[in-house]
Amino acid sequence: MITKAVLPVAGLGTRFLPASKAIPKEMLPIIDKPLVQYAVEEAIEIGIKDIIFITSPEKDSIEKHFKKNNKIEKKLKQSGRDKYISKLNPKIFSDIQFHYLNQENQNGLGHAILQAEKLIGDESFAVLLPDDLFFSKKSCLSQLLEIYSNKKSSVIAVNKIDKENIHRYGVIKPGLVKDEVIQIDDIIEKPSATKAPSDMAVCGRYILSSKIFKHLKSTEFDKFGEIQLTDAIRSLLNDEKIFAKVYDGEKFDCGSKQGFVHATIALALRDETISDDIIKIIKEID
Ligand code: UTP
Repeated sequence: MITKAVLPVAGLGTRFLPASKAIPKEMLPIIDKPLVQYAVEEAIEIGIKDIIFITSPEKDSIEKHFKKNNKIEKKLKQSGRDKYISKLNPKIFSDIQFHYLNQENQNGLGHAILQAEKLIGDESFAVLLPDDLFFSKKSCLSQLLEIYSNKKSSVIAVNKIDKENIHRYGVIKPGLVKDEVIQIDDIIEKPSATKAPSDMAVCGRYILSSKIFKHLKSTEFDKFGEIQLTDAIRSLLNDEKIFAKVYDGEKFDCGSKQGFVHATIALALRDETISDDIIKIIKEID
């Protein structure tokens, strides 16, 4: 059983400046819901009880967002707008423990995860990068959980990426494949297209063994001053088997402007309350 999830949200979000100057990138909405809430809901859906944010003091709006707001709830009741209460204070959050840990310096994803060590202890845990948005009948995390339940080993989601873009990701070297479960032979952070061991890149959902912390601690900073999670996963391969699953579903990279706009259009077209208007608007754009 996996009950703890780590959500790193301390990044600088430079690709979204100036929007991300006062509003955390993770709080930018796709239609009417902040990116980070989609990830939190995906985690809760598989039974996560502790959500551990790795954050920074500038991003206090994230904490505010997940706290119950009784003042606005009262106002909504008084003005007969009760139907909005479930959006303001969703019931699914009520038995969840939200934790907020600061990452003082933005020394990369691996460094962010390392901050959670004390709260995780020796359990396996989920990691969700909120700027990767996934939509599928069975959620991405739930696809990983199924494999974890059988193997009791770390498992990470991958998706196929074209050659021109592979250098931006962690890429796995697949080993034995059985029932769509890939045993990872090696993993390399941001390889050149010619050195990439496959076209399968890590995407933002993981279930990791707590042994990862030992490996994060011994991982050296890269030339950009960051500790890469991929490097620690590579080192963990010396101790344990790690599996991968090609994610079956739709993925939007909302850390990039193109992906963010793509997700916004896709979701708008699926929202019955606005889709007709959106189609009309798109047709009218010259
Ligand atoms: P990204 O690299 O996509 O986010 O990290 P970023 O660094 O904020 O974005 P850019 O490149 O400057 O535009 C993926 C996730 O990891 C978190 C980010 O907040 C994001 O949710 N992260 C990244 C941290 O928590 N700490 C870090 O040091 C780096």
